[in-house]
Amino acid sequence: MASDKTNRTMMITRALGWVAVVLSVVILLVFGAIRLADMTRDPPPNDAFGVRYVQHPWVALLHIVPGLLFLTLAPLQFVARIRQRRIGFHRGLGRVLATCAAISGLFALVVNFFFPAFGGISTQAATVFFGAIFLFSIAKAIFHIRRKEVNLHREWMIRTFALAMGVASIRVFIALFTILSDLGLEQVFGTSFWLGFGTNMLAAEVWINMTRRSGQLVSGGS
Ligand code: HEM
Repeated sequence: MASDKTNRTMMITRALGWVAVVLSVVILLVFGAIRLADMTRDPPPNDAFGVRYVQHPWVALLHIVPGLLFLTLAPLQFVARIRQRRIGFHRGLGRVLATCAAISGLFALVVNFFFPAFGGISTQAATVFFGAIFLFSIAKAIFHIRRKEVNLHREWMIRTFALAMGVASIRVFIALFTILSDLGLEQVFGTSFWLGFGTNMLAAEVWINMTRRSGQLVSGGS
């Protein structure tokens, strides 16, 4: 009886997680497309936000394009059926996506000091803090899979991907704050970075703890 309830909770949490993944991918594909379209616009944008991307196109591209590739394709890596039936595909795509994550993460740090980031010291501190955790997580995920420690690899990949999803949550917090208050974009930017990444990191730890307890879910689920 109790295990029926646990299974149902797991199923609902998993389903909600996948909804959040799809929403995050859609949100960031839209924002990425807007940013890339803005950068090729003639005349170029001259608002305080958009102009920085036009001034540093390569830094922006090297952050956004690999980041979008990682966020869009990494969900396939969490599908148990693909891992079980096509392990070669999982390994090949994993190498490409780990490289994308590392490039995007490194250029997030470069963006942070080149642009400089909207929202001043608050955004910059959040970027260094979570950017370092993002790069550390992907490095740990690779380290563990090279030692064939599959469960630890899975846990660190969940942390890495949750932080990538955090980039979409930031946009949700920005929207909420600007709608619910009379603050401007730059005023809510840094706080949204902290909340967007922070909530996703917390969600990742909760999911990892929920699934770590069940042997079946750790090996078969995402
Ligand atoms: C891996 C998935 C990621 C994707 C898909 C992604 C996507 C984007 C996009 C589309 C922008 C342009 C801003 C906009 O139009 O809203 C951007 C900017 C930025 N991203 Fe990322 N990003 C990712 C990861 C990260 C990480 C891990 C960090 C740091 C912790 C980060 C920090 C930043 C910063 C500081 C900016 C500049 C914000 C500004 O305009 O001042 N991103 N990112």
